[in-house]
Amino acid sequence: MKVIRTISELRQELSILRETGKKIGFVPTMGALHQGHASLVKRAVEENDVAVVSVFVNPTQFNDMNDLKNYPRDLQADCKLLETIGASIVFAPEVEEMYPEPDTRTFGFAPLDTVMEGACRPGHFNGVAQIVSKLFYAVEPDRAYFGEKDFQQLAIIRAMVKQLNIDVEIIGCPIVRESDGLALSSRNMLLTSEERQRALTISRTLFASVEYAATHTLAETKSYVEEAINATEGLQLEYFQIVDGDSLQEVAKWEDSNYLVGCIALFCGKIRLIDNIKYKEVK
Ligand code: PAJ
Repeated sequence: MKVIRTISELRQELSILRETGKKIGFVPTMGALHQGHASLVKRAVEENDVAVVSVFVNPTQFNDMNDLKNYPRDLQADCKLLETIGASIVFAPEVEEMYPEPDTRTFGFAPLDTVMEGACRPGHFNGVAQIVSKLFYAVEPDRAYFGEKDFQQLAIIRAMVKQLNIDVEIIGCPIVRESDGLALSSRNMLLTSEERQRALTISRTLFASVEYAATHTLAETKSYVEEAINATEGLQLEYFQIVDGDSLQEVAKWEDSNYLVGCIALFCGKIRLIDNIKYKEVK
């Protein structure tokens, strides 16, 4: 496994592989890797000849400077994990390498980016589109892997590659959870043990709401989740929305869509967590 720091070295390395017909799978990450990331990388290894993983904490997508400062970083541990699961190349650039000049591009993916995370974290998806487009230009992958954990991000990346005519297949991968249900997240390691316990309410409530949904209206199910979160000390709900999985717009009734996802964001103490659950997926 090679650890590469510059775009020019990365391009050089990949052009040799591409010339010999190798398919390139790419997994962009911000490091502090866990089994959720690993599931994406394993898939990239299985489905391609070469798996490239980027590890870069992208400053332009953080709207909270404390969150950026406290974001966990451990490249050594990340490389150890990536080596064991068969990644070929780790691309770990410095900020100056990705942003030799400030990125002045503004993206718009309305209505996908005006709701939920887009509404609560101004500029977040613009920063995500800036870095992921730059990474796609550098790697030129055949396939790129993203987790459904960040459900809205996945929808926006799909919209971005269409908008920019980038020739890459975007592959969504299911959420990986702890055995007790908590969705894996790099931010989980910032939780105290008490907060970690409280955070369990999130997945438990989402799972319970799927059963509740079988005999209740959409509005009742929404209230059920909101009330359960609000009743838990230490959790502060930012939003819970049941949306159409393609348009990400809220729907009023179960019959309104064949693809329904409940998306939640909340603070557990000072740590912001997101999760989601599918109520309906008829493809
Ligand atoms: P990061 O939060 O490091 O996540 C990298 C990828 O791992 C994302 O596609 C995310 O959805 C996926 N992932 C995280 N936790 C997961 C879990 N529990 N199960 C399945 N997949 C999971 O998302 C980002 O970084 C950044 O925004 C990035 C796309 C790298 C741009 O900077």
